[in-house]
Amino acid sequence: MYNLKDARAWCELEQLAERHKNDRIIDYFNQQPDRFDRMSKQAAGLFLDYSKNKITAEVLSALLELANNAQLKAKIEQMFSGEKINQTEGRAVLHTALRNRNNKPVLVDGQNIMPLINESLQHIERFSEQVRSGSWLGYTGKPIKNIVNIGIGGSDLGPSMVCDALYDYQHPNLQFLFVSSVDSAQINKALRYLDHRETLFIVSSKSFTTLETQLNAESAKQWFLDACQSADQEISKHFVAVTANLDAAEKFGVARQNIFQLWDWVGGRFSLWSSIGLPIALCIGYQKFVEMLEGAHELDQHFQTVPFEENLPVLLALIGIWHINFQAADSQAVFPYDQPLHILPAFLQQLDMESNGKSVDIHGEKIDYATAPIVWGQTGSNGQHAFFQLMHQGTRFVPVDFIGSLAKDSQNSKHSRALHTNMLAQAEAFMLGSENRLAASHQYCAGNKPSNTILLDSLDPKSLGALIALYEHKIFVQGVIWNINSFDQWGVQLGKKLAVKMVQQNPADHDSSTVGLLKKLNLG
Ligand code: F6P
Repeated sequence: MYNLKDARAWCELEQLAERHKNDRIIDYFNQQPDRFDRMSKQAAGLFLDYSKNKITAEVLSALLELANNAQLKAKIEQMFSGEKINQTEGRAVLHTALRNRNNKPVLVDGQNIMPLINESLQHIERFSEQVRSGSWLGYTGKPIKNIVNIGIGGSDLGPSMVCDALYDYQHPNLQFLFVSSVDSAQINKALRYLDHRETLFIVSSKSFTTLETQLNAESAKQWFLDACQSADQEISKHFVAVTANLDAAEKFGVARQNIFQLWDWVGGRFSLWSSIGLPIALCIGYQKFVEMLEGAHELDQHFQTVPFEENLPVLLALIGIWHINFQAADSQAVFPYDQPLHILPAFLQQLDMESNGKSVDIHGEKIDYATAPIVWGQTGSNGQHAFFQLMHQGTRFVPVDFIGSLAKDSQNSKHSRALHTNMLAQAEAFMLGSENRLAASHQYCAGNKPSNTILLDSLDPKSLGALIALYEHKIFVQGVIWNINSFDQWGVQLGKKLAVKMVQQNPADHDSSTVGLLKKLNLG
């Protein structure tokens, strides 16, 4: 049986970590003039520079051996071919089929799912064209101007992140609002100034049972009916649904023909390529949505065909394994130096931490090595004025992914020059530390802090699709090496159950802190 820590490579990596613990990354550059050329790769409109890591050729070779020991090549093929690799839920994992632009058959239980996917894409295309052209009319005959997506987790973060990232492509007559939290402050703020006659709600929920989304959808429906003082029949022109639970959506009041289907072989955090991405197609148009799918598809093909030592997702994953399992990194920072990507860190939090925040392996055995890091981040240059002090002089070891895009607002070149020089300066400062090694201790920056730099050709649908797929596959590779199931999320179900019990159970059944707080909040 596969056991990560029994692998020869694991032992070698532990020895290499010990042997190189006092190395300085800058010395690698001095010894290897071609380091940048050797340790930077590109694919699908992305450029990855991973040379500012404390990684030698020996370390990389041992990391690649870990990947091969984990049968990574076979695992990749199993995922793309529809094997039920999500063992605890008995499901295939096929977000890749959603962007399978060469339409090669993909079988689930013997059925080719590509016709289902193409039919769903046609539904998205028809509907987004109707709304964007103004031919979809509300019950008073007005076209739609406001689109409110109601959903949470993967039914919110993906669409909202992409719509903000691709703001330059947004339809000029449409505004997009995303409601996710159960805190009524969010939906009240969203609806405050909207004209219900021009507003369309998308209720996005794969299960159609998530408490936050149910409550928000009911409040939205009540807001709408109160505003139009008429019976339910009007809701059909102003509410559509995205779900795998068609009966529940119909019971809520969405007309069957306005329900966009989802399937159980698409995980929530991997679902923006499906009809969960409806807000994206409405925002940027169906053709640009397809370009996003094409960018991801190109990265998928790279991932499936390119040797691991040249493979962007594999390299990013292995560098993470080196930091997490051999350099004791507890967190991974993501700093997009591209303001439209301001939701990307939050999106990657769910994608990474909900996938690999696990502590038992695929056989249910407790594991004794670290798995997913705490993913966090903020756009640059703002982060420099918030937490870069800790990054430069704190006691924590935090690997960083810098993300930027080459074609950046050329007409405002002063801004993009300042943005990009800040990004490069910070990456260099993390590596070099203080120039004066004898600086007074309160001024001294130790340096030797690793970072990757990822550059997009431009922040357009195709490159963004490739970037998201890059991280999806990085996380998949790490899950394979850690021998965990990256596609279930049983931990989240516990919180949901306790929230329901909290209001049903006799207060006395709780601990004194919970009882005391229930009373404070008039819940007990
Ligand atoms: O966070 C748990 C989770 O199940 C996520 O995986 C999912 O994206 C989110 O809740 C919302 O679930 P649903 O789309 O079923 O409402």
